[in-house]
Amino acid sequence: MKPKLLLIDDDAEIRTQMKWALNQEYEVLLAEDRNTALAAFKEHRPGVVLLDLGLPPAPNSPEEGFAIMSEFLRLNSLTKIIIISGQGEKSNALQAIGAGAYDFAAKPVDVEELKLILKRTFHVAGLEKEYREWQQRLQGESFEGMFGTSSTMQTVFTSIRKVSTTDAPVLILGESGTGKEMVARAIHKRSSRKDGPFVAINCGAIPETLLESELFGHEKGSFTGAHVQRKGRIESASGGTLFLDEIGEIPLPLQVKLLRFLQDQIIERVGGRQSIEVDTRIVAATNADLKKSLSDGRFREDLYYRLAVVTVSLPPLREREGDIRSLAQEFLRRFAAETEKDGLAFDQDALKALARHTWPGNVRELENRVKRAVIMTEGSRLTPHDLELNGVSNIASGTTLKDAREAVERELIQNMLHKHSGKIAPAASELGVSRPTLYELMEKLGIQRPARDLKIAESE
Ligand SMILES: Nc1ncnc2c1ncn2[C@@H]1O[C@H](COP(=O)(O)OP(=O)(O)OP(=O)(O)O)[C@@H](O)[C@H]1O
Ligand SMILES: [Mg+2]
Repeated sequence: MKPKLLLIDDDAEIRTQMKWALNQEYEVLLAEDRNTALAAFKEHRPGVVLLDLGLPPAPNSPEEGFAIMSEFLRLNSLTKIIIISGQGEKSNALQAIGAGAYDFAAKPVDVEELKLILKRTFHVAGLEKEYREWQQRLQGESFEGMFGTSSTMQTVFTSIRKVSTTDAPVLILGESGTGKEMVARAIHKRSSRKDGPFVAINCGAIPETLLESELFGHEKGSFTGAHVQRKGRIESASGGTLFLDEIGEIPLPLQVKLLRFLQDQIIERVGGRQSIEVDTRIVAATNADLKKSLSDGRFREDLYYRLAVVTVSLPPLREREGDIRSLAQEFLRRFAAETEKDGLAFDQDALKALARHTWPGNVRELENRVKRAVIMTEGSRLTPHDLELNGVSNIASGTTLKDAREAVERELIQNMLHKHSGKIAPAASELGVSRPTLYELMEKLGIQRPARDLKIAESE
């Protein structure tokens, strides 16, 4: 199929000549005034248009041509319009370019020159169209910046859509690096609080002694060093959302205070006597097994049930069918653009290695590996070596045998535990060691069983 070219000129002779000259390469559509031009444009959607500015009813002024041009650009902003300008009309042609025309050719038109201009214009139009479609496809696949076409992630997106319409607390569960913070932000952005603040606090990263004042604020002089009154994060998030990351790390006395807030929307600053009403929505997250903390007495049951009215569980990356590859491609596109390394791609072995790896660090690990690979690579194809996914050969030179052995042991054991959902017996059996030996190795190498799988493991 030949590409479509629309030629608009009121001179019948020129139309015939041009059609004859360009017919071989293009499907040339003809129009002589605004009405026929618009009709042809709407019916055929040509990518490129050749436009004579002086048309009836005012063939000596460019008005009609400008009107057609702006109508075409309104219908499709990617349309490439080439102005055919008569002698002494150069200023009109330049004005047209200022208004969005792509190029111009002066009469009498040199056919060979015009053919070159057309060739280049169609090429650019094709690239733009491709780029636009590709962008739309990407946007179609992402949900508030999160990529995931797997059914497990689609379920997550559905939950987010539902919980965003309410004000209820949400508990987000998921291994580290699965995107818990992204989910919290997505909930905020889709809620009626989107114009209010989104405040995040990592409860595990703040010393216990400071956490209370950080969350609830303090009055001047309430403790040594409290020189001024200060609002806490709960208060600063008023009208918006407070993201409590690593909620499992909140010490018991503070849990009581937080529960009171969740029940009554009232806080008291440290050292203050006044009750302050605060309109803040709580979204909490944890990668720990909160149920286990409940039975250990490290987390209050009443608080747990308040927080966990609605939970969103993020699947680990290895359980997202098809997403590893598309996320890898997305990160590659991003980092390649950032570092201006165009045309980078994964080689076949790299794609296989990506699929085989069990991703204990989930999306964050994938992001980091691709980022490092893009920076380090010297060719145009990323290899398993660039991704540091080629087993033994990625151990740096200068490593002692002992360190290398431990690194390999650690990776194998972690992978096997993930594969068997944290169950010791089948992991030990596949590794060819006894259960006590596996426990010993885990202790020596500092490996913990995957948190979210502990429940299953305990029922072994
Ligand atoms: N579905 C996704 N699409 C694109 N990027 C993602 C997706 N999920 C996570 N990411 C990216 O992965 C990284 C980790 O995400 P995030 O910080 O939300 O995870 P997390 O579960 O809070 O991790 P941690 O438990 O370590 O705090 C971020 O850089 C984030 O942008
Ligand atoms: Mg996080």
